[in-house]
Amino acid sequence: MCGIIGIVTGKPVATGLISSLKLLEYRGYDSAGIATLQNGTVWRERAAGKLSNLEKKIRVNGLGDGGIGIGHTRWATHGAPNETNAHPHIIGDVVIVHNGIIENYQELRGELLKNGAKISSDTDTEVIGHLIQNQLKINDNVETAIQAAIGMLRGAFALAIMIKGNEELLIGARKGCPLAVGIGDVEGHYIGSDALALSPFSRQIVYLEEGDFVFATKNTFKVYNESGELVEREINIIEQQSAVMDKGNHKHYMAKEFFEQPDVISHTLANYIDMDTNQINIDSKLDITKFNRIIMVSCGTAYYAAMVGKYWLEKTTHMSVEVDVASEFRYRNPPLNEKCLFIVVSQSGETADSLAALRLAKEKGCTTVAVVNVPTSTMSREADFILPTSAGTEVCVASTKAFICQITVLAALSIGFGKSLNILSADDASKMTMDLASLPRLINDSFSVEKEIIKLAHNIAKVEHVLFLGRHTSFPIAMEGALKLKEITYIHAEGYAAGELKHGPIALIDEKMPLIIIAPDNDTYEKTRSNIEEIAARGGDIMVFTTQKRAEEIRALGLKAIALPDSSDFLSPFVYTIPVQLLAYHTAVHMGTDVDQPRNLAKSVTVE
Ligand code: G6P
Repeated sequence: MCGIIGIVTGKPVATGLISSLKLLEYRGYDSAGIATLQNGTVWRERAAGKLSNLEKKIRVNGLGDGGIGIGHTRWATHGAPNETNAHPHIIGDVVIVHNGIIENYQELRGELLKNGAKISSDTDTEVIGHLIQNQLKINDNVETAIQAAIGMLRGAFALAIMIKGNEELLIGARKGCPLAVGIGDVEGHYIGSDALALSPFSRQIVYLEEGDFVFATKNTFKVYNESGELVEREINIIEQQSAVMDKGNHKHYMAKEFFEQPDVISHTLANYIDMDTNQINIDSKLDITKFNRIIMVSCGTAYYAAMVGKYWLEKTTHMSVEVDVASEFRYRNPPLNEKCLFIVVSQSGETADSLAALRLAKEKGCTTVAVVNVPTSTMSREADFILPTSAGTEVCVASTKAFICQITVLAALSIGFGKSLNILSADDASKMTMDLASLPRLINDSFSVEKEIIKLAHNIAKVEHVLFLGRHTSFPIAMEGALKLKEITYIHAEGYAAGELKHGPIALIDEKMPLIIIAPDNDTYEKTRSNIEEIAARGGDIMVFTTQKRAEEIRALGLKAIALPDSSDFLSPFVYTIPVQLLAYHTAVHMGTDVDQPRNLAKSVTVE
């Protein structure tokens, strides 16, 4: 988390830094700060809260005309999200911004304090600044001093550094957290957390590797590896990432993004379906017959996407499909070998735990696949196979269109694998493919429930707890619905397998407990219907999302239901995602919470 930008052009950089921070705010918005260097003076402004607070201060105080500067958006790890802890930190001649966590920070801090250092913030970043400042005192050469100081750090970090008296020099270093160098389209050099941050200035991007340092001036840049050797890194040409920060005529990015779903599903499907032949196209080198087990790992919303995928993949491959959250997977010493196909699902392609899980799987000999939305991300570069989700840039912290594209890819993969293994006949595979191709229209139709959902949202806005229930692929959708609601409304919500209700949650049911029951008309409908009656008998406040026919039956029982368009069982998780997204959104709008940037969250979680 935390976003970093650094610019050295020799021309005033303050405006460029702000434009880039706007693109980086998705990584954290607890505080923001910028510093520029001009004639031996540091101009610095920092502000707690969103970037707009910083902009206001800069409008009043200015930021000088310095031709070199660094900026930061923060997601707090060490120390409260106040101005004192905001970056950049200034320690002697060192001006520094940091993303990541320094694990031996207490030890280093203790040592520094013992030697008389004055530490004014609670951050681990300030400690790095002191180490660099100390090394600068004993080393004439800046490059040697930086490498020596950073060599003392344990943990994950990306850093951008300026040194007073060295106004030509912008310094970057990375280990565990991403950092890229941009070669200016017009002039100068840039360093940033991702290609998006560099997109206003640069199409030529160099991704630093683990342990790399970069020393950039207006005209040159040098990269050293962890052993201090000068190295060449590949220059990647990035396509223009345009119009990403535009809400169109929507009030929030979230609304814009979920209404884009029919379109982005089409774009995603175009990668996997040959519309002339109705065949799924998966890279033939990704040969499922070589494996006997599939493991899927992810975090947050992407984890629920993987859970939906598990139901499909088990059905079409007859293989054991294991799904785990990355933070658990990587520490439980999972048995892995070359017969395992490992699939990581991630919007950003940078989530620290998911990335570590991918690396672990590679190390243990698994073939690795990344279902990923950001083509320039670390996972895209490191996985053996990339299955892109073409959701476009997702700005709202709560994921919507990326989720639906993730399950789109997993659906296509399930068909492709089933056919390769001869578990699906050519005929069945082609029917499922045609079904999948009808998704954009079906999703469009599913938005027809919006008015009814708005009414429901106004009631949900008054409660403190909500339960979501579902069976089979509706179970992960119930969990995703609960996650969306808690993320953006702060109402406590849980998703349960409907069959688990009797094993505990039923104790919570009374007339104040709303239950959202996701019940498409499929093989498990009758079972879910029994659960509905059990809840009704105990006075629970029930709302059932189901088909038109079933909705009428439910209403005849005196219960509430909202009717979604009919679909095949295969496509039901797509259809039922729409009402749970709409419910979270309209509840949040009614409550007046910050829909796009909910408290405490960040879009890309690059720390463990
Ligand atoms: C954060 C975001 C979630 C996202 C999760 C995984 O928690 O707030 O929306 O689902 O990270 O992110 P990834 O980029 O790996 O999909």
